[in-house]
Amino acid sequence: MRHLMNPLDFTVEELEGLFDLANDIENHPEKYAHACAGKKLATCFYEPSTRTRLSFEAAMLNLGGSVLGFSDANSSSASKGESVADTIRVVSCYADICAMRHPKEGAPMVAASKSRIPVINAGDGGHQHPTQTLTDLLTIRSLKHRLNNLTIGLCGDLKFGRTVHSLINALSRYEGIRFIFISPDELRIPDYVTEMLNEKGIPYEEVMSLEDVLPRLDILYMTRVQKERFFNEEDYIRLKDFYILDRKKMKLASPDMLILHPLPRVNEISVEVDDDPRAVYFKQAQYGVYVRMALILTLLGIHVD
Ligand code: CP
Repeated sequence: MRHLMNPLDFTVEELEGLFDLANDIENHPEKYAHACAGKKLATCFYEPSTRTRLSFEAAMLNLGGSVLGFSDANSSSASKGESVADTIRVVSCYADICAMRHPKEGAPMVAASKSRIPVINAGDGGHQHPTQTLTDLLTIRSLKHRLNNLTIGLCGDLKFGRTVHSLINALSRYEGIRFIFISPDELRIPDYVTEMLNEKGIPYEEVMSLEDVLPRLDILYMTRVQKERFFNEEDYIRLKDFYILDRKKMKLASPDMLILHPLPRVNEISVEVDDDPRAVYFKQAQYGVYVRMALILTLLGIHVD
């Protein structure tokens, strides 16, 4: 039995297979419409979500399976003090696979260690968000036709952003990747990430100005300043609108740069940018369904000819 806690749990070759499967699902959805008939997905979400939970549920329904779960810790027995370990033991009696989001780093890993069914980390605190990374990689591969030789700018909350940490981890295995980290000093990328890049000899720069680096980017990965991760409201208010990507700034970017965003968006991308063909964040959400379908099939060991 296999779980997914971190994007590095899959080899680069396994990811290629997963993305090929996701693209086949995109092109031939009818082939997969009954692949999970009789199977159940549990979504155990201790933290709010729109995309991750609903795309997992859409993925399982598209595969002909069923879904059950909770979307709020307060509507589960966690509110009475039940541990994640006990919850997953029980969920293992009801479902065939589980996607779990939790505000505490490592909670899905604890669940996986006690589970009789595959557990997917659907985001744990500021740590990892591997299925968002699978979504991001599939989006880049499908639209840029490569995952190597790319200059990727990551902008916004690089300190607490689990999507950022997961994506850097995953991309650091491809040739010719260069990162540009764009953030205010308070939201800098953590040292453990830059130490990993130094060890691997992967080039990166840390800058504060988005405008200065926009012309050099193949991919701009925008992120939200996350109110829920701040201890101090004053700091959040001071930093929340530090970056706002608008039409004027987009004039500086190359014609084939792609803008990705894990969403939700607050103010960091002006809505006037949404019509720009380089803005692919809503397409990205659609790729999230295909890759989660591919992941469910893979972890359940279901093959469709
Ligand atoms: N990208 C993402 O994780 O969105 P949700 O928080 O809405 O699931």
